[in-house]
Amino acid sequence: MNTTVETNSLELVGVTSGYGTTTILRNIDLTVPAGSVTALLGSNGAGKSTLLKTVSGLVHSTQGTIRLGGEEITNLPTNRRAQKGLCHIPEGRAIFRHLTVRENLLLQAGPGHEDELLARCTEAFPILGQRLNQRAGSMSGGQQQMLAMCRAYAHNPKLILVDEASLGLAPILVDEIFHFLRQVADEGAALLIVDQFITRALALASKVYVMNRGEIVFTGKPSDLENDDVFRRYLGGD
Ligand SMILES: Nc1ncnc2c1ncn2[C@@H]1O[C@H](COP(=O)(O)OP(=O)(O)OP(=O)(O)O)[C@@H](O)[C@H]1O
Ligand SMILES: [Mg+2]
Repeated sequence: MNTTVETNSLELVGVTSGYGTTTILRNIDLTVPAGSVTALLGSNGAGKSTLLKTVSGLVHSTQGTIRLGGEEITNLPTNRRAQKGLCHIPEGRAIFRHLTVRENLLLQAGPGHEDELLARCTEAFPILGQRLNQRAGSMSGGQQQMLAMCRAYAHNPKLILVDEASLGLAPILVDEIFHFLRQVADEGAALLIVDQFITRALALASKVYVMNRGEIVFTGKPSDLENDDVFRRYLGGD
């Protein structure tokens, strides 16, 4: 019988990876349930971005297993992982600055889904609807980040990896981005987010991992973390 065994989630078992001969991640065990937000926290250089890159295939794992929706993807190239429903929104807003907002969105849409994608994105972020013909690179940082976030709507991803979405944004825009991420999770996707705004990330998340020097040092609920020594030791203590 077909049971609901978290088909939309990510699973890492004993994953090790790094750059060249340098090992950065060691023996990572991590799962991201569907329909919710999981936060990945840790100080600078802890390995958060490397973990996201290892999941999306930009960095190769040398040991361990990665599964998406129960299916092993450990050795698949990046584009195959994307086809299977993995969406990585990297730090630094990977948008085409010289293309218009509309062109950026159309590049993300699958054939025949152009109108649907434009409608969903401009509903989520009305300001983008007013700027469809503007060059993406001439918008504010917050608007560029909104455009980058729209990737989460392309190809109906199962898993969305979000690296530092709020970096450099005004608090009100951060609210808008976080509200959007909440909505995307409520629609059923699994989200793994890395963010410098720890308290906001914890408010959004139902599960949290803390990393230090390439290893997971805490796994639990956000409420457990607040009373744990880990918070003081690895996350600046306030
Ligand atoms: N392309 C690379 N080549 C070699 N080493 C790298 C590369 N990218 C990152 N590293 C190293 O890997 C380690 C983890 O870096 P990573 O960027 O994953 O950390 P992070 O937790 O995302 O940090 P931050 O909060 O500053 O974004 C660091 O020691 C970093 O110097
Ligand atoms: Mg990083």
